Amino acid sequence: MGTVLLTGANGSIGLHVTEELLKTSPELTLVLTVRQTEDKNTARLNDVISKYTNAKTFIHKLDLADLSAVHSFTGKILSSVASGQLPHIGVIICNAMYWNLVSDPEITVDGYDKTFQVGHIAHVALVLRLLGSFDKSIGGRVVLMSSQNHYPGKSQMEKIPPKIPSDMSKLVHTSPADDSHVDHNARGFEIYSNMKLAAVAWMHALNQHLEKDPALQKITVVAIDPGVICDSRAFTTNTPSSIINMQKYVLRPFSPLCRLVGIKGFRTSAQAAVDVAQLAINRAQPNARGYFTLLNKDATAPQSLEREIQQRHPSMCNG
Ligand SMILES: NC(=O)c1ccc[n+]([C@@H]2O[C@H](COP(=O)([O-])OP(=O)(O)OC[C@H]3O[C@@H](n4cnc5c(N)ncnc54)[C@H](OP(=O)(O)O)[C@@H]3O)[C@@H](O)[C@H]2O)c1
Repeated sequence: MGTVLLTGANGSIGLHVTEELLKTSPELTLVLTVRQTEDKNTARLNDVISKYTNAKTFIHKLDLADLSAVHSFTGKILSSVASGQLPHIGVIICNAMYWNLVSDPEITVDGYDKTFQVGHIAHVALVLRLLGSFDKSIGGRVVLMSSQNHYPGKSQMEKIPPKIPSDMSKLVHTSPADDSHVDHNARGFEIYSNMKLAAVAWMHALNQHLEKDPALQKITVVAIDPGVICDSRAFTTNTPSSIINMQKYVLRPFSPLCRLVGIKGFRTSAQAAVDVAQLAINRAQPNARGYFTLLNKDATAPQSLEREIQQRHPSMCNG
């Protein structure tokens, strides 16, 4: 299966996906990207890797909020694969995410909304630039980390339903919440959910494109909703105290119970990572395309299925 590329490898799910792959598929080469190489999260990633003496892993610093960094990173990967230093790419797991539920939307050096760029635009750039590094006779998989919140009305945290506007440039050039009703939580979660909705629409468009191309048709694109992750550190960063407290006093204490009785949708990052890893390496849902809630095939939001939205998608970054 060659090389697996995982973004946000030192995140809550990322750490466990790394461990799961090392445990179950030691033959794989792992290219693990992190925003910072010298922090406690990457130290944890190194601890995980150090348990597997034959691990073939490379940690790369990659800030997805900077598209020039994405381009130079993909350039390095392309030449490493071309020169045989790295096996062909077999899997790309687009896992990194950023949100801000406590202040106005942030803009990257590239001029895009930071949540949108880190979670989606940078992954689009990464995947499109690396499609040629897959072995066309073997193919492989692209995994998008999705969420029930891309689907209007499904998330408990939703205050403003996700929607792709007719002017798609508004997705990437975001504005603050309405001055008179400043609710950063609502606005930040809306941007995050819109980003996931756009990613799911793109998944459909990309699958259609790949299926038509004889050189790429063995690459499948899947999106997975891994459940609500009780122990995710996402709930502790850039989040209001209500969410921090909910995780501290409800989600974390009840996570063993969730595990025992299997409360629908609530899981630990370790549980979610098993599904993500199995899906990524084609052991779960082999050769399938499309959207999965945990490992079950599921429907995506109606807007994500609109051909016109899928086709217009690339233009949003030029707006
Ligand atoms: N948590 C949930 O309940 C849940 C539910 C459904 C779907 N998901 C999805 O599952 C995926 C993983 O979530 P998680 O809970 O594991 O989140 P997490 O623990 O917050 O991990 C997010 C990762 O993204 C990285 N990241 C943030 N900004 C970055 C940037 N500018 N450049 C590169 N990397 C950056 C973080 O690194 P730093 O810490 O260094 O910034 C971290 O490694 C996400 O796509 C999320 O949307 C999560």
